[in-house]
Amino acid sequence: MNPLAVELNKAIEKAEPCVHGMLSSLGKRLFFPRGILTQTAEAKEKADRHNATIGIARENGQAMNLDVLMDNIPGVVPDDALDYAPATGVPALRRIWRSEIYRKNPSLKNKSISLPVVTSGITHGLTLAGQLFLDPGDIVIVPDKFWGNYRLSYETIIGAEIRTFPLFDNNGGFNVEGLSARLNESLDARGKVLLVLNFPNNPTGYSLLKSEVEPVVESIRSASGPGRDIVVISDDAYFGLLYSEDAYEESIFARLASLDEHIIPVKLDGATKEHFAWGLRVGFITFSASGGVPDGEFYQALEKKTGGAIRGGISNCSRLSQTVILKALENESFADQRDEKFRVLERRALKVKEALANPAYDEVWEPYPFNAGYFMCLKLKNINAEELRCSMLDRFGVGVIASGNNDLRIAFSCLDVDDIPDLFDIMFTCALEMKHRG
Ligand SMILES: Cc1ncc(COP(=O)(O)O)c(C=O)c1O
Repeated sequence: MNPLAVELNKAIEKAEPCVHGMLSSLGKRLFFPRGILTQTAEAKEKADRHNATIGIARENGQAMNLDVLMDNIPGVVPDDALDYAPATGVPALRRIWRSEIYRKNPSLKNKSISLPVVTSGITHGLTLAGQLFLDPGDIVIVPDKFWGNYRLSYETIIGAEIRTFPLFDNNGGFNVEGLSARLNESLDARGKVLLVLNFPNNPTGYSLLKSEVEPVVESIRSASGPGRDIVVISDDAYFGLLYSEDAYEESIFARLASLDEHIIPVKLDGATKEHFAWGLRVGFITFSASGGVPDGEFYQALEKKTGGAIRGGISNCSRLSQTVILKALENESFADQRDEKFRVLERRALKVKEALANPAYDEVWEPYPFNAGYFMCLKLKNINAEELRCSMLDRFGVGVIASGNNDLRIAFSCLDVDDIPDLFDIMFTCALEMKHRG
C-alpha cells in the first residue's frame, strides 16, 4: 500500500475506528498523490520569477485563450473559465456550499461536517461513495422505488448486491418497519450495509414527513452497533422542492450526523436539480462523523481519499461550471430567482393534485403519495405500464416513463401548468380503453 494511504488510514482509524472499518479495500488504498500536484502548489506560492510547473498554457499573465471561446463567456476571466480546478474543487465554492448546508439544515448546529468535495454531478458522488465504502458482495439497501441508475453504479460496476424493501407501508407512509427488517437482516448477514435514502424520491416524489423522521432515525440507530456498521447515503438531489407543510425540510443527513460511531452519513447534493443547472454537472459529497473535528485530520483524510479517487478517475471537475455556480451563489438575487422557479414547480405539483382528484380516475389507477421533487407515480390497476406508455406516445404524442410493470412516472417538472389536465385526460382515455379491451 502507498505510504500516503497508510498515513490517511491511520488518521481515520485514530479518530473513527468504525469508519476505517467501513472503508472498502479500494477506499483503504486511496490517497492523494503528492508529485506534480504538490510541486505545482509549492511553485504557485514561491516561483515568482518563472513558473514552469503546470500542465496548461499561459500568456500575458493568464490562461492562454481563444476569443471564439471567451466571447461566449462574458463576465468570466480566462483563469476562472479555462484553467483546471483542484481535484477536490474550487475552495471558495466548497466553503460557500458548506455554509449553505448548515443554513438549510439547522439540526447540524454544533455538529461537524467535512468540507464538501466537488463532484461531477450527484451521479459522480454516488460513484465516489461506492468506491470508498463498497466491496463486491457488499449489501446496498434501497426502497423498492428507486432511481434505476443505482443498479448500474453499485451492482454492475462495483458488484454489490442491491436489496430492497417496500417504500410505503399500508397507510401510504414511509415503511419504517420494512426498513428496519431489511437493515437488521442484512447486518446479521454481513456486518456492514450501505443504505441509500433519497428524499424527495425519484420516481415517486415522496419526501419524509416531519412525523416520520424520528422513527426513521431511530430504526437506523437501533440497527447499528458493534459489528453492525451502516453507511447512509443521503441522495439529496431534489433537496428543498417540497410542496406540503408537513414535509420535513432538512436532510436526513443532518439528523444522522454525530449520532453514533457505527453510522457514517454521507450527503450527496448539488446544483444540478436543486438549482436547475443539470448539465453544468456541479455536485458535492460531504461526510460527517461523531469524532470528526471541523477541518481536522479525519475529515482531511477522507477528503484526500475522495480527491484521489477523483484525480484517478476524471482528474478534476469543470472549472467553468464551478465558477458559474459560485458566482450565482454569491449573487444577491440568487435566493429570489431560485424561489421564483420553485413556485413554478409548486404550482405544477398542486395542479397535478387537482387533476388527480377526479373520481373517475380511480377505475384505472391509484397515485402513490407525493409531496415533493420533480415527479409523481401512478400505480395502474391491472394495466401494463409499458403498453400504456406506447399507446399514449403513438396515438397522442405524449411521453411518460414506465417505471415498473404497473407503474408510470410523470415528470410534472417538465409540463406547463395548463397542459397538466390534458395529459391526465389522455392517460385516462388510453388506460380505460386498455382496461375495457382486457
Ligand atoms: C435520485 C437521483 N439522484 C441522482 C441523480 C443524478 O443527478 P446528477 O445529474 O446530479 O448526476 C438523479 C437524476 O435523475 C436522481 O433522480
